Amino acid sequence: MKIAVLGGTGDQGLGVVIRFVQLGEQVIIGSRKAEKAEKAVENVKELLGGNDLDNLKGLSNEDAAKEAEIVILTVPILAQKPTLDSVKDFVEGKIFIDATVPLQSNIGGKPTTYFTLWEGSAAERTASILKGSGAKIVSAFNNISSSSLKDFDKKPEIDCDCLVSSDDNEAKKTVIELIEKIPGIKCVDCGPLEQARTVERITALLINLNIRYKTHYGGLRITGLGNKKP
Ligand SMILES: NC(=O)c1ccc[n+]([C@@H]2O[C@H](COP(=O)([O-])OP(=O)(O)OC[C@H]3O[C@@H](n4cnc5c(N)ncnc54)[C@H](OP(=O)(O)O)[C@@H]3O)[C@@H](O)[C@H]2O)c1
Repeated sequence: MKIAVLGGTGDQGLGVVIRFVQLGEQVIIGSRKAEKAEKAVENVKELLGGNDLDNLKGLSNEDAAKEAEIVILTVPILAQKPTLDSVKDFVEGKIFIDATVPLQSNIGGKPTTYFTLWEGSAAERTASILKGSGAKIVSAFNNISSSSLKDFDKKPEIDCDCLVSSDDNEAKKTVIELIEKIPGIKCVDCGPLEQARTVERITALLINLNIRYKTHYGGLRITGLGNKKP
């Protein structure tokens, strides 16, 4: 499946891009400016030592969303609405993964404090903005740091669970299967999209722990759930 990463030029987006490119998935870096996306493609190619990589390209966010089957949003929360408005017409029937987190650092405060959105979570806000578009919203990647995703040479296996929430069970299943291809990640099916309210808040805690323990790789593992699927 073709995967578009909107804001894929930034920290989190690039990490997601690198991991999926390494898996051989067809990946499109999206940006407000196509040239910036193309430059990011060159950077990733250099990083992965594969100038002949033919499963990665860069486009505007709009063209990336048009072409992809799965779209991932990795922009700062203040860019959430304008980015979604720009792609709303191109996501019908597609899986739309929201990785955004409303942290107070986006509004002049601390990165260790969450701020509450009217809709309850960033993922539910995405669902509200994309209402009527036919996109299937899934919340994922919130608790995995960009360093864990990007530092594939130092940390090939990501020691972190990925908490996944959605009101669309089929979409959630597809996303879990896709993300679990990334070495080390185990996905946890958290149930409906409203669970993103709790999951996103954990990101603020993890940033706090990363600062306190002077690392960039702090993550989360849920234990004791057994092997049965919910
Ligand atoms: N960084 C992490 O470790 C991490 C972990 C979990 C979740 N997240 C979440 O993932 C999201 C992205 O985080 P990040 O650290 O990757 O952010 P970032 O590097 O600051 O920004 C990502 C991309 O968003 C676009 N962007 C930035 N400002 C914008 C604006 N005002 N309007 C429209 N687009 C804008 C830019 O792409 P173009 O200029 O190319 O358009 C930028 O490269 C955030 O919501 C964050 O909370 C991050």
